[in-house]
Amino acid sequence: MSLIQLPAREESTPAEKVTAQTLLDRKQARQPITALTAYDYSTARLVDQAGIDVILVGDSLGMAVLGYDSTLPVTMEEMLHHTRAVHRAVRRALLVADMPFGSYHASTGEAIGNATRFIKDAGAEAVKIEGGRNRAALVAALSQAEIAVVGHIGLTPQSVHRLGYRVQGKSTAAIDDLIADAQALEAAGAIAIVLECVPREAGGLITAALAIPTIGIGAGPECDGQILVFHDLVNLTGATPAKFVRRYADASALFSEAIRHYASDVRAGAFPADAESYHLPREASEEPLSREPQQRSR
Ligand code: KIV
Repeated sequence: MSLIQLPAREESTPAEKVTAQTLLDRKQARQPITALTAYDYSTARLVDQAGIDVILVGDSLGMAVLGYDSTLPVTMEEMLHHTRAVHRAVRRALLVADMPFGSYHASTGEAIGNATRFIKDAGAEAVKIEGGRNRAALVAALSQAEIAVVGHIGLTPQSVHRLGYRVQGKSTAAIDDLIADAQALEAAGAIAIVLECVPREAGGLITAALAIPTIGIGAGPECDGQILVFHDLVNLTGATPAKFVRRYADASALFSEAIRHYASDVRAGAFPADAESYHLPREASEEPLSREPQQRSR
């Protein structure tokens, strides 16, 4: 454990807080919405301070930081734990938490109970659920319970065993279906909709058919906003990136180099240096040592 000083909560002044209304205003003013995932305090702090509008604690954390091979095993407790950490860092962005697989599927009552935990116990300002028309009644019930909901259609990773990880909306009929899904979610009270892996043309048509904003990931530039998984953005996944990912930094290379350099310094006796060591105060160092330094116990 290092003696890192955590910044006081008041230290960074929040610019204007992002709310659901801000996202709506952005759509109307045709100002693109920026969104990224974050799963921990230190990353969320950087993302928030960089002025990103929406921070999503995505269930992609199952793969990105927990090492699962899909989002399906992610639990409520894991999502709440990470959402709390992100909440401690966020001052300005709208904080959205993903409801994990199984947490909103059994009954409306259970879904409202679980969503309430995200808002009340973990500090989220909205929850995201996957699905189209089949989730409209649930979105309406959550909205009635004063819980803001972001929808998610197109490729929905929680449906992997039914739909696979495939680009959706690849025919006019499929696009019409997605538009009907998006409009049903909007009518039910969703504040925004994530569109994942659909052709650019579909992204444009769905965006034009809605009053609420679309936030695209692999859905083309016509969406009202864009979201990427933070670990993809900075190359921390170790996986071949999807077509829609643009890597803005190579954190894997940077971190690997730092770790190797550290290990080689320790092995060579070059770390820590005297300047990186604590010393006895002058008076104490002038006293004769009463005993030989003890052997380090393990
Ligand atoms: O879990 C996640 O990170 C997401 C984004 C891909 C939108 O749902």
